[in-house]
Amino acid sequence: ERVALLGVPVEVGAAQRGTLMGPAALRTAGLVPMLESLGLLVEDHGDLMVAPDSDLAQNPPSNARQYREIQSWARAVSARAYQLACSGALPLFLGGDHTLSMGSVNGMARFWREQGRELFLLWLDAHADYNTPSTTVTGNMHGMSAAFLCGEPGLDQLLGDEPRMPLDPQHLHLFGVRSVDRQERLLLQQRRINIADMRQIDEFGVGVLIRQIIEQVQSCGGVLHVSFDVDFLDPQLAPGVGTMVPGGATYREAHLVMELLHDSGLVGSVDIVELNPFLDERGRTACTVVELIGSLFGQRITGWATPSAMPP
Ligand code: ARG
Ligand code: MN
Ligand code: MN
Ligand code: MN
Repeated sequence: ERVALLGVPVEVGAAQRGTLMGPAALRTAGLVPMLESLGLLVEDHGDLMVAPDSDLAQNPPSNARQYREIQSWARAVSARAYQLACSGALPLFLGGDHTLSMGSVNGMARFWREQGRELFLLWLDAHADYNTPSTTVTGNMHGMSAAFLCGEPGLDQLLGDEPRMPLDPQHLHLFGVRSVDRQERLLLQQRRINIADMRQIDEFGVGVLIRQIIEQVQSCGGVLHVSFDVDFLDPQLAPGVGTMVPGGATYREAHLVMELLHDSGLVGSVDIVELNPFLDERGRTACTVVELIGSLFGQRITGWATPSAMPP
């Protein structure tokens, strides 16, 4: 199996600078040799660069900070995502802040639509990222990615000539949520977005909840894009993020999520976003993330498959 890495050093979608160092930190933490040790063929396409040009004719929407730069990134990432998917590799996007997904998911959605398969989006995140320019409190565009991808209005010209492929909002699964803004909550409710929040994770456990999502995708012959915001993890485990929210996924929960996703065979593309090496402690967040990506790509404790039922 071929994995195509693409670094996307975007940082202006977040309030805190520093996610532009994310791709470098993941490489330094040994991402490539780890994937190769699992028998994967890794092509590293390096880091994407964009020119801050774009539609100067068009008025940027208000309440969307750094709109023009995000516009350049989103267009370029979407085009590259589509191209990498067409090459037959499994794309792994290294962020960068969570605006990266506006491009990566859009490009993958275009690819899978042509293949006649439905795309589902698993959003591992402390936040819902379901703001629009009319609901946002901060104006930070990384808080708008999931809403944009579900076709919410307000950023309609963002992708320019790049074909926009809005997802069915019922194909989005928010997982690990524990911080939602007031107006954002109303929108989530109106759209009936699927949410596994931390309360549900406490009650039912990640195993049950992830299996439900996998079953939904399987039953319609779909494919999964996993968008992994590092703040999904508990800040004690992963301090290297700009938006820490207490009470996140534990080491054990996060590995189990990744192992179940791997075993499903449904994952077609992955984002790793919001890692901020400037805020990390001696690289430990980057190292933890690389380990988790290992589980997502088939690393096993014993080296063989774990039976999903209890032994008799
Ligand atoms: N909801 C907040 C906002 O809209 C926080 C978003 C945080 N998003 C993230 N990708 N870390 O600004
Ligand atoms: Mn996010
Ligand atoms: Mn987040
Ligand atoms: Mn459907």
